[in-house]
Amino acid sequence: MRLVFLGPPGAGKGTQVKMLSKALGVPSMATGDVLRMEVASGSELGREAKSYMDKGELVPDDIVIKIVEKWLRSINIAKGFILDGYPRNVRQARELDEILRQMNVELTAAIYLDVPENEIVRRLSGRLTCRKCGAVYHIEFNPPKEDRKCDVCGSELYQREDDKEDVVRQRFRVYTESTKPVLDYYKDKGKLLVIDGLGSIEEVNKRILKRLQELSSSSK
Ligand code: AP5
Repeated sequence: MRLVFLGPPGAGKGTQVKMLSKALGVPSMATGDVLRMEVASGSELGREAKSYMDKGELVPDDIVIKIVEKWLRSINIAKGFILDGYPRNVRQARELDEILRQMNVELTAAIYLDVPENEIVRRLSGRLTCRKCGAVYHIEFNPPKEDRKCDVCGSELYQREDDKEDVVRQRFRVYTESTKPVLDYYKDKGKLLVIDGLGSIEEVNKRILKRLQELSSSSK
């Protein structure tokens, strides 16, 4: 399956993509994670990306499209993939279609995690992220076994810089203006799967798997 995950900041995209990647046995990539690693490494790309991320703005398309294209060309595309947090605007969606066309494959579906704003605020305000491996936790809904320590690699958990209230508000504005139109782009192509993102992490995961099973049986 070749999938992209869409949804407002904090909808649970990263959480679900990591689970789905394991369940389906396909590689996944989050543009946000790659950019945060570049920032942490202090690279030139990271320094440029940071100036946008700290303000809650999108990093310029040319940078992000190159990251995605490089990754897609590095994997066995026939086996499938999941992209988390890409595309963020219609230009990125069109560029993805073009890259996939050149690679003779098509996107299977765009999964939209539908979560209302009040729930998003609860999710983002309690999120903890691992500084080293990027694993995501929530102080209430998905706490780590040990306080502020990653279950996966034992490193320190921290609150993301862009989870501060004013930056979250700006990320929402950007989502509404630039990313929401991407939903229509995929709807018009008959590829949009809307998933109710409310409920526990496991409930949402079951819903996604069920829809993907239905999709794969209907295409046989
Ligand atoms: P990015 O890292 O992609 O941030 P985002 O889209 O705002 O999404 P988040 O990572 O905040 O949330 P999520 O939906 O993955 O939720 P999560 O699973 O963590 O992007 C950051 C920045 O990078 C952007 O602002 C931009 O600058 C740049 N960028 C990235 N991609 C770009 C692109 N393509 N183009 C240009 N710029 C780009 O869950 C959130 C919390 O909720 C967690 O604590 C989790 O444990 C909890 N949770 C999850 N599911 C549930 C549930 N069902 N019930 C209760 N709690 C839950």
